[in-house]
Amino acid sequence: MKLLAFTILTASLAHLAPAAEPAKLSAFEPGALWLDNNGKHINAHGGGILFHNGVYYWYGEHKIEGDAGNVAHVGVHCYESRDLYNWKDAGIALPVSQDPASDITDGSIIERPKVIYNKLTKKFVMWFHLELKGQGYNAARSGVAVAEQAAGPFKYLKSFRPDDSMARDQTLFVDDDGKAYQLYASEGNATLHISLLTDDYLAPAGKVIRVFEKREMEAPAICKRDGRYYFIASGCSGWDPNDARAAVAPSIWGPWKELGNPCVGTNPGNRMGPNRTFGGQSTYILQVQGKKDAYICMFDLWRPKNAIDGRYLWLPVKFTGEGFKIEWSNQWDLGVFDQPAGS
Ligand code: GAL
Repeated sequence: MKLLAFTILTASLAHLAPAAEPAKLSAFEPGALWLDNNGKHINAHGGGILFHNGVYYWYGEHKIEGDAGNVAHVGVHCYESRDLYNWKDAGIALPVSQDPASDITDGSIIERPKVIYNKLTKKFVMWFHLELKGQGYNAARSGVAVAEQAAGPFKYLKSFRPDDSMARDQTLFVDDDGKAYQLYASEGNATLHISLLTDDYLAPAGKVIRVFEKREMEAPAICKRDGRYYFIASGCSGWDPNDARAAVAPSIWGPWKELGNPCVGTNPGNRMGPNRTFGGQSTYILQVQGKKDAYICMFDLWRPKNAIDGRYLWLPVKFTGEGFKIEWSNQWDLGVFDQPAGS
């Protein structure tokens, strides 16, 4: 009798259990569908990562189905993770506006959002590439938004041409001394600009350099390791992949030395190798916390005909004598960073 009561009780409790989450991931599978905690493919393209109080936040472009997804209809999506494999949907951090007069109105272009935390103001600051609705890629502006919490909601502040220059693909970088920089493709994408931000990170401070003159670099991403600055970018061919370029410098202000293409190997999914960056385009270099020399280069594999189906290629950065390599791997985990150098 007791056993029967127990069986009935456990059966009814099981009935109350929440719907099963997708199986926990313990490896990266570049190019595969990457499901969030709700079992949906992560929707955060052209993204960047912020690590804050033990949590990684992934911000990226929310894309919808079809080629309609190549402009912004939803906004900037945010996901949270503690282990980098499993991501929880944290919602839309910056929604598009329904006001046709807004710069970020539904149908504008909001690309490559990056978020940094300002220790002085205690605010989260987002910069993104903004194109005004109906003007193609001619506006070439940067947008800025700010939030009290990492996952938002972000409040849109303004857009402008930084340093009175055209700005398309962009990223942000915070140095050890708390100074922040925007790196953006300028001068019709011909030349990259590196621009110091004000102490509140809300505007350019007025100190800017032109680098990789007329090399037509897009999709800039940067990291710092052992006092050296490492850089990766793509060439300029829209959604189509091309060959990545790398560079290194002893200071953010240069001199920047180009190192050539860091990619090695082939993506068997599309048979694309270094001359097509495995089918991807760089977006961010993420520093893994708690491990030495552990950096992940994040690429987007764009699917402009069905933008929501764009994939993510995350691959480990391997530092070599002067530069770094990014080798294709079908599946890998953070254990690669525990192996002794040179193995
Ligand atoms: C790429 C750029 C993307 C997007 C695309 C549009 O070169 O990196 O962010 O702007 O062009 O064609």
